[in-house]
Amino acid sequence: MSTRALDEARTRSLENAVRDAHVLVTTGAGGVGKTTAAAALGVAAARTGRRTLVLTIDPARRLAQAMGLDGLTDEPHQVSFDAHDGSSTAEPAGELWAMMLDMQTTFDRLIDRHATSRENAAAIKSNRIYRTLSSTLSGTQEYMAMERLHELHDTGEWDLLVVDTPPTRSALDFLDAPNRMTSFLEGRLLRLLLKPGVAAGRGVGRMVGASATAFMRVAGRVTGMELLQDLANFFRDFEGMYEGFKERADQVLALLRDPDSRFVVVTSPEPPPLREARFFLERLEQEGLHAAGVVVNRVQPEMPRDPSAASLRRAAEKLDDGDDPAEPATASALRLLDDVRNLATRQRRDVAAALYSVEPPVLVEVPLLGRDVHDVDGLKEIASTLTATR
Ligand SMILES: Nc1ncnc2c1ncn2[C@@H]1O[C@H](COP(=O)(O)OP(=O)(O)O)[C@@H](O)[C@H]1O
Ligand SMILES: [Mg+2]
Repeated sequence: MSTRALDEARTRSLENAVRDAHVLVTTGAGGVGKTTAAAALGVAAARTGRRTLVLTIDPARRLAQAMGLDGLTDEPHQVSFDAHDGSSTAEPAGELWAMMLDMQTTFDRLIDRHATSRENAAAIKSNRIYRTLSSTLSGTQEYMAMERLHELHDTGEWDLLVVDTPPTRSALDFLDAPNRMTSFLEGRLLRLLLKPGVAAGRGVGRMVGASATAFMRVAGRVTGMELLQDLANFFRDFEGMYEGFKERADQVLALLRDPDSRFVVVTSPEPPPLREARFFLERLEQEGLHAAGVVVNRVQPEMPRDPSAASLRRAAEKLDDGDDPAEPATASALRLLDDVRNLATRQRRDVAAALYSVEPPVLVEVPLLGRDVHDVDGLKEIASTLTATR
């Protein structure tokens, strides 16, 4: 169909997103580079003069150190970096801030906000059912990231908020999180726990599986009577909070649907994460959410077509027969060059095969670096790639 649209997408970069968006959410399969991309987008935005905050979830330890996020902190914290080095822009330096999501603190604040009284909030927060479910219910971390995003948006202090997403099994879980959270809070959870086998709506089935497991974990630790008491209290104390929660979930979704909120879909050039990226782009479209583009991370850079594979092979064969001990090594190097070039071609074919039908507005490739990205210089390098126009 439209490989031309994909070729056009390749000529654009995330520069506009970095300059104009108010919210950027990086999403994608596990381990593809979401956290790295989020931090690099933050660096790029700060370089264009914007006051930027990166809300990160699970940075690799050394990256966290580099960004000054060593201790767990739920508050934004300024990252010092030289915005102008290497770049010849005359733009005023922006600011780069970072913080790590603390799920429990965010959930507790949500309870404080919606509880009917201070006693009510305290009762819920000390309830064992709440403490276990709030940290193990699938989708909670995703939802809390969105909730925290909304709080930060409300402060009006940030030009751009870059949100990293949790290492979810599937990136799609992320989009289901607000709905699952509301179903949970509407008490459907209880009904389903009491009557397993009741027909569950789409998405709810998986939630029940995870909740039931969390529930059994609590059940294993306390006696039956204590458990029943906690459960009764939990639902009694939540009474009257559902409306507030639901409203909040709607506000969070509205913020995500705003045209200034855009999703950056990160993938590696292998078929499984590429498939996930395609599903995610399709889902964004269905949900009326906006894609900033796709980042294909850790790609093998393209190489010159010359010399041809056939002449490389011929040259290697000739060297194999030579007497000089260095020649077989040179022959191996020539064959390796051919393999790497084929890999680069195959990766581009796989990307095109997976994504041509979803037509992302931007497609950027980030080369596989010879080292981990664990410092601000590494982030700057990736930031430049993400925003470079070809
Ligand atoms: N282009 C790249 N080249 C080399 N290493 C990379 C690149 N992008 C990311 N990495 C490394 O891959 C690992 C996983 O990246 P990360 O951003 O934590 O993935 P995710 O957040 O999707 O789980 C990290 O150690 C990171 O430094
Ligand atoms: Mg991550």
